[in-house]
Amino acid sequence: MKVFITRVIPQAGKDLLLAAGHTIEEWTEKRNLTPAELVAHCSDADALLSAGSNKIDAAFLDAAPHLKVIALHAVGYDNVDVAAATRHGIPIGNTPGVLTNATADTAFLLMLATSRKAFYLHKRIIRGEWNFFEPTANLGISLDGKTLGIFGMGSIGQNMARRCKAAYGMQVIYHNRRRDDTAEKELGATYVDFNTLLQQSDVLSVHAPLTPETQGKFNAAAFAQMKPSAIFVNTARGSLHNESDLIAALEGGQIWGAGLDVTNPEPMHPDNVLLQMPNVCVLPHIGSATQETRDAMAVLAAQNIIAGLKGERLPAVVNP
Ligand code: DGY
Repeated sequence: MKVFITRVIPQAGKDLLLAAGHTIEEWTEKRNLTPAELVAHCSDADALLSAGSNKIDAAFLDAAPHLKVIALHAVGYDNVDVAAATRHGIPIGNTPGVLTNATADTAFLLMLATSRKAFYLHKRIIRGEWNFFEPTANLGISLDGKTLGIFGMGSIGQNMARRCKAAYGMQVIYHNRRRDDTAEKELGATYVDFNTLLQQSDVLSVHAPLTPETQGKFNAAAFAQMKPSAIFVNTARGSLHNESDLIAALEGGQIWGAGLDVTNPEPMHPDNVLLQMPNVCVLPHIGSATQETRDAMAVLAAQNIIAGLKGERLPAVVNP
């Protein structure tokens, strides 16, 4: 059967699909497919392997009547109307678990790099501005014993908390849709309401999915409640924070710094003022970007397709 793949994915996933006897058509241009192009390529496809942010909504599903399964090369599925897919009888697969450690590493990297102004100081060396060692210059802030706030205590949030406790003995507080036993028992994390999370976190790391409830959650009112010494880290989705409010909070000293792996829009424009700020580190959405992790994501996405085309339950399915 025909599988359409929206971006080049690791060979390991494609090998699995080919070994199962399927044919592959892969979009290789380095730009997002337009909605019309996606429909055209899916008109005779039995399965869609979607890597990227193409909208999968009711209109698309109506226009792709042969699709039997859709597998995302991602854990997040905010680009998919899952209810519409369920109504169409189409299972949606994603890639949880395999990217947990890599994404927690990215959050940890951004926290540490931001706390020491690492990206900004690296740029100063390149510009020839490292001329003299000054004991009072280039100072960051220590993370030892500080309070880590986790917004969204799923597996990635828990792994970030585990790293921060092991490395810096950080106290962990968290806010989540519901309380989490593992986080409380194993990590000694304390559940707090959203306002307390804002007020008490020295580092606030965002790990929640993008939903109507979380969209724009980190706005001017939220930043105003945070400590002037706080670092905001977002490796989830750029739309969870309001970018102009974040810029104002950094410029106004309401928070100290920010580490972002996700922005809105993506890619971030190179002229964005955030890229010039000493206490800001921005990465190009590389949360899961290790060779091992991307291979594992491609394999799980392929396994989801293979199961779906056989009419079996997907190994990782998001429909209720
Ligand atoms: C994910 O897995 O959701 C990553 O952010 C890639 O989109």
